[in-house]
Amino acid sequence: MSNQQKENSEKDFLAFIKEAGLVWGPSPEIYGGFAGFYEYGPLGKLLKNKVENSIRRVFNSQGLREIEAPTILPDVVWKASGHLETFSDRIIQCSKCKSTFRADKLIEENHDISADAFSDKKILEFIEKNNIVCPSCKGALEKEITRQSLMMKTKIAGEDASLRPETATTTYLPFPRFISYFRKKLPFGVFQIGKAYRNEISPRQHVLRGREFTQAEGQIFLDPKTKNSWEKYETIKKEILPFWDYKSQEKNAEIKPASVEQALKKKFINSQAYGWCIYLAYMQFVNFGIPKEKIRLRQHHPDEKAFYAEDAWDIEVKLENYGWFEMCGVHDRTDYDLKQHAKFSGQKLEFKTEDGRTFVPHVLEIAFGSDRPTYALIDLFYEKKAEGEGKTTFSIPYHMAPIDVSIFPLIKKPELFKIALDIKEELERDFIVDYDESGSIGRRYLRSSTQGTPLAITIDFDSIEKNDVTIRDRDTEKQIRVPIANLRHVIRQLINGDIEFELAGKVVK
Ligand code: GLY
Repeated sequence: MSNQQKENSEKDFLAFIKEAGLVWGPSPEIYGGFAGFYEYGPLGKLLKNKVENSIRRVFNSQGLREIEAPTILPDVVWKASGHLETFSDRIIQCSKCKSTFRADKLIEENHDISADAFSDKKILEFIEKNNIVCPSCKGALEKEITRQSLMMKTKIAGEDASLRPETATTTYLPFPRFISYFRKKLPFGVFQIGKAYRNEISPRQHVLRGREFTQAEGQIFLDPKTKNSWEKYETIKKEILPFWDYKSQEKNAEIKPASVEQALKKKFINSQAYGWCIYLAYMQFVNFGIPKEKIRLRQHHPDEKAFYAEDAWDIEVKLENYGWFEMCGVHDRTDYDLKQHAKFSGQKLEFKTEDGRTFVPHVLEIAFGSDRPTYALIDLFYEKKAEGEGKTTFSIPYHMAPIDVSIFPLIKKPELFKIALDIKEELERDFIVDYDESGSIGRRYLRSSTQGTPLAITIDFDSIEKNDVTIRDRDTEKQIRVPIANLRHVIRQLINGDIEFELAGKVVK
C-alpha cells in the first residue's frame, strides 16, 4: 500500500469511527479538543462494555474477584510505589517549533522496533542516523533528552495527591482485608477495571494512548514457594503460544511457537505460575475474537522492564493502522509492592501459614485495559470497500458486536408493530436490541450490518398467522424462519456460535 493509500484508509477509518458513534474526540470537540481525551459514543460504549464483560467473565472463571478502589490517593502512596520518583517519559523537543515528543515513540512510529530499552544515547543516535524530524513542522529535533513525570497532580484538603497512573497499586493497599476475605488462604486473585491517568507528553494514537484511560488489571497473590508447583499449570502446560523471547528479537529471528512447558524448559519464562498468567492473559485476547495469527507474546529486554518487574512479557496485536502494538503486560512484581507499602505505612503486610511460616507474598500481574482491545476490534474488523466493490463492512465477531439484534416490522402496520414491540420487550431481558421501523427494509438491513449487528429479525404478515419471524444473518445475508417462542434460545446459540445458521432454522420447529 502506498503512503497516500495508507493515509486515505486511515482517514476513512477515523471517519467511520466518528460517524458510527463509536469514538468521538479529542474531546471536548466544540472547544477544539484536548489531546488524549475521548468520548465513547453510544455504539462505542456498548462495545467497550462487551470487552469489559468478557474480561470479567474470564477473570471470574479463574477465581479472581473484582474490587473498586479510589482513583486519587495521597502522594505517600506514590512515593512508596516508586511512581513519584521514577514514572516518567523521555522527552525530545523540536528545535524549530518547540513541540515536545516522547522520544522512544517517535522511533517506534517510524520503524517496526521497540525503543523502550534504548539508552538516551542510543535514541539520539538512532534519530540522527535515520533522519527522524519533528512530525509537526519537519524541523530538526534537539540533541538532548529530558524527563517528564507522568503523574497527574492535585491537592486534597491541602495535601499533595495524584490521580492513579495504574489500578495495580490501589489493588495492593487493602491486602490485610483480602487475607480475611479469602479465608487466610493463598493463592488468591483480585482485579480492577477502572480509570487511570497519565500525563502523556503528546498522545497521538487515538484511544491507544490516552491521558485518561480504562485499565483492567488482575493481581495474583501467591506464596513464592509455590511458583513452581502451580496446580493450574498442569492443565495448560501443553498449550502452544507465540513466544518471542528477547534474544530472538535481538537476532531478528522469527517467532517459534512453543508450549508453555517448552518455554519454561528453555528459560523464556521463570516459573509455572508465571506461565499460567501468560496463558490466561493470552486467552483474554482470544476470547475477544482476535485471530490467533494476529497475537504475539514479546518478552521485554532486561533494560526495558518497568522498575517493579522481575520478568515482563507483552501481548501484542497486529493492527491494520499501527502494526504490532502492545496490548497487555504480564509482570512478575515479586514482593516489591507489598514490602514498599509495609515500609511507608508502618503496617505488617505479611502472610502467616498454619504452621507458623511468615513471609511477604509475591504478586503476578496481568495488566491491560479496555480501550486498546476495543480499538483493536474496530481496527481489525472494519473494512472499507472501494467504490463499486460492495458495502463497507464491520464484521466484528458475533459475540462481541455492540448490538446483538435488530428488530424490524416489515411495513408500518399496527398489527406488525405490536408483535415487534412484544418481541423487543422479551429479548431485552437478555440482549442489546435495536428497534427500527423507519425507511425501506433494505436500508435498515444495511444500517444494522454497518453497525456490526449480527442478526436482524423481521416481522411480516406471515408472523400474524404463524407466530414466526425471519432472522437474517449479517455475513451470509441468508434468512431463516423461527417460531417466536424459540427466539431467545436460537439467538443465544447463533451469537455464541453454538449452532450453524441453517441448522438453527431446521432445529426449530
Ligand atoms: N500496572 C502496570 C501498568 O500499568 O502497566
